Parts: sequence; C-alpha cells; structure tokens
Amino acid sequence: MKIPFFLAPLLLCLLVFQVQGQNPKCNIQDHGSTLQIIHTFSPCSPFKPSKEMSWEESVLQLQSKDQARMQYLSSLVARRSVVPIASARQIIQSPTYILKAKIGNPPQTLLMAMDTSNDVAWIPCTGCVGCSTTKVFAPSKSTTFRNVGCGSPLCKQVPNPTCGGSACAFNLTYGSSTVAASVVQDTLTLATDPVPSYTFGCVQKTTGSSAPPQGLLGLGRGPLSLLAQTQNLYKSTFSYCLPSFKSLNFSGSLRLGPVAQPKRIKYTPLLKNPRRSSLYYVNLVAIKVGRRIVDIPPAALAFNPTTGAGTIFDSGTVFTRLVEPAYTAVKNEFRRRVGPKLPVTTLGGFDTCYTFPIVAPNITFMFSGMNVTLPQDNTLIHSTAGSITCLAMAAAPDNVNSVLNVIANMQQQNHRVLFDVPNSRLGVARELCT
Ligand SMILES: *[C@@H]1O[C@H](CO)[C@@H](O)[C@H](O)[C@H]1NC(C)=O
Ligand SMILES: *[C@@H]1O[C@H](CO)[C@@H](O)[C@H](O)[C@H]1NC(C)=O
Ligand SMILES: *[C@@H]1O[C@H](CO)[C@@H](O)[C@H](O)[C@H]1NC(C)=O
Ligand SMILES: *[C@@H]1O[C@H](CO)[C@@H](O)[C@H](O)[C@H]1NC(C)=O
Repeated sequence: MKIPFFLAPLLLCLLVFQVQGQNPKCNIQDHGSTLQIIHTFSPCSPFKPSKEMSWEESVLQLQSKDQARMQYLSSLVARRSVVPIASARQIIQSPTYILKAKIGNPPQTLLMAMDTSNDVAWIPCTGCVGCSTTKVFAPSKSTTFRNVGCGSPLCKQVPNPTCGGSACAFNLTYGSSTVAASVVQDTLTLATDPVPSYTFGCVQKTTGSSAPPQGLLGLGRGPLSLLAQTQNLYKSTFSYCLPSFKSLNFSGSLRLGPVAQPKRIKYTPLLKNPRRSSLYYVNLVAIKVGRRIVDIPPAALAFNPTTGAGTIFDSGTVFTRLVEPAYTAVKNEFRRRVGPKLPVTTLGGFDTCYTFPIVAPNITFMFSGMNVTLPQDNTLIHSTAGSITCLAMAAAPDNVNSVLNVIANMQQQNHRVLFDVPNSRLGVARELCT
C-alpha cells in the first residue's frame, strides 16, 4: 500500500508513540562513544515494514534487497578507473541496521543507516521533494549549518558536482530513482561526541521509490567517511555487534575509537585495494563444512586488486554470498553431511532448504590467521513455524559481474567485529548482543 505523503508523518508519530509506549528499550540513551544499533525490522524502527509480514515474506524481502546490494557492490569492484569516492552507486542501497545521530546545533535527532561499504553520509533535508520520510533535517534551525562552496576541495570528492549559485551540489541515480543533494557541513553528534563541521549530503529531491528513506552514515575507509572525518577522535577504529533479526527486541552496539575495544579477539589482516578504497577486504583462504575443508578453486577466493575479486565484510548485505564455485562446494558438502538422500527444497534465493528437522554441520570460515566457526544461528534460518530450515547463504547472482565474496550481516550477528584500520586488521569474537 502506498501511503499518501501527507499522512506519512502522522503515521510515523503514531507508530513511534505506540512502539515506544510498548517497549521501553526503544528509548535507550547512547553513552560515551558507544551507540545502540537496531535492525530496521525492530519494533523500535520507524522503517520496519508497515504491515505484519510472514516469515517467508520478510526473508524474501531481505533477499531482494540483497540482490540490489550485490549489484551495487559489484558495480564498485567492476569499476575500471579511480573515480571520486562518493559515487552515486555508493550512496544508496538497502541498509539493515540503524543508529541514532544528532545533527546541528541545537541537535536534531535522526536515524541513520550504518554502512561499512560506503564513505559518504547523507540525510534528507527540509523541503526535500519526493523524500518518502518521515523525519528530515532542518538546516534553518541549526546555527552551525554551512553550505560547502564550489571552490572547496571537498566539492571534488562528490560525484558529478555542480554549482547551484556558489554552493556545491550533486545528482545521482540509483535504480529507478534519482537523488539531488547539496554538499553541506554541520555538527554531527554520535552518542556524546560532537564532530564539528561534518561534511555530508543534504538531500533536496528524490524521484522514484528505490531510494531508502533514512539518512546513511558511511563507515568505509575512503575520503569523506566517518573514519576520514574523525581521525583524531576515533583513530579509524570501530567495532560493532549486530543483533540477530530473529530477536528484534535486542539492540547491538557500535563502539567508536580504540578505547574499550575487546582485548581477547582473533584477527585477520585487512587488505587494501587502492581502487576500491572504501571496502574492507580480508583474505578468506578456505571454508570448512563439518570437519572437511571443501574443494574450492583458489581463484574463487583470491584477492585481486585489479579485478576487485576477493572477500569483504559488509554490514549492508544480509545473507553471505559466495562466488559460484565456492558456494557450490559448500552447498554440496553441507547437503552430503545433512544426508545425501534427503529431499532438498528452495525458498526464494535459497536452494538448500529442508522441510523437516535436520542435523547440520558447522561451517568455518578460514581467514589468514583466524578461523571463525559459526554457530548454527548464523548459518541456518528457520521459519517461525519451524517447518522449513535453509542454509542462509547463496551464490553471488550471475546477472552481475560477481567476483566478490561477501561476508554478510546474518553471518556476523552476535559477534563483535572490530575494524582496526591503523593496524590493518579485522577482529572477530563471539558476543551476544543485548
Ligand atoms: C518485544 O517486546 C515486546 C514488549 O516488550 C513484546 O510484547 C514482544 O513480544 C517482544 N517481541 C519479541 C520478538 O521478543
Ligand atoms: C540536478 O537535479 C536538480 C533537481 O532535480 C535539477 O534542478 C538540476 O538541473 C540537476 N542538475 C544536473 C546537473 O543534472
Ligand atoms: C558445532 O559447534 C558447536 C560449538 O561451537 C558444538 O557444540 C557442536 O557440537 C558443533 N556441531 C557439530 C554438528 O559438530
Ligand atoms: C585453522 O584451522 C586449520 C584447520 O583446522 C588449522 O590448520 C589452522 O592452524 C587454524 N588456524 C588458526 C589461526 O587457528
């Protein structure tokens, strides 16, 4: 159902009121440099689906968003030349986890999607034509708001910059949508840390329906990202614990800066691809299903800065995608271990599903210097009725130029994932988000 735009704010207020009335957890205050993160489907999220969805429907919806996400990631890695970081396709995709940010002075509270494969931040602004949201940032109410001028070096870091008067602006397209934003600066406050003069895109106009409604906070490694703009404060270090979307009442956390990061954690080196500077590449060397290391052609896992091939950790993709030969090897061994003669069925993009209880093997991702054995909560999805169980991974879609393995958020849930850029390493430790 399409909601008339003039009703949307009202509906949101009702929704928020109702949700917060029901669930005191929605009102949690962020402390220090730690922010609460919630799933977009959480009862506390204004972006949760407007109607009650069945389990199958929500899985299929997440899968279809993944399809767009994979196209977006593949378009990044397939790029032939160095282009400005905040390119059109980088800005928009389907965000899964959101956090609370305050912008301006006095601070206006907005929800932003957290995205490790994006650099730039953007938010819908007052007067935005076509924005489907709910809550926008009002620059006129902030004393610290500034436009970025066309002459500023910052203006060169956005895609197709244009000059409206003397202010820097850019237009971009995504799927059937277009977005026009101006490049602006204001204070961004995360938990209790103010970051003065944060540069972001103030969205003025969107068309079509594929642009996501909320703001987005880019946690990539490139210029204009949160890391780049908070060098002194957070030292390019952060970690998160993503709550499971099965326990929607749980929230996770985003911990910014080197202080209070876990000491007991296993690391693998972060690999740097100068041509895809926002992505967090790691070296996935093998995959174990049960006790067997499955037979994957080395080329399917190899890091190649020229083609963009390799493996990334991404917060915005829901289900792990492996390039076809790698996925086939994992799936075949998984099926063999579950029972080679047992009937297998499909659900949307999942091709290894069972309509009866199974004993599933554990899956271990073997990275350089770090083995991560995933609890079955991270590898299997079960319908609420318990009638169907699927291996929650898939082959990279073959309609995109896929050379990329993506360790997605379902496989990261209830783990602390630490991005330690100064020491070029990524850490993973089991942790129950609460
Ligand atoms: C979430 O919490 C609300 C109220 O606290 C409760 O009614 C609901 O059943 C909980 N949902 C889940 C999935 O635990
Ligand atoms: C960008 O979009 C705005 C709003 O739709 C439009 O007025 C402007 O002409 C566009 N600029 C370019 C360079 O396409
Ligand atoms: C999977 O790993 C868990 C602990 O990580 C262990 O308790 C369990 O027995 C393993 N399952 C199988 C089928 O090996
Ligand atoms: C990972 O597992 C493999 C095979 O089980 C083992 O040989 C290797 O030493 C382990 N690596 C680490 C860093 O524990």
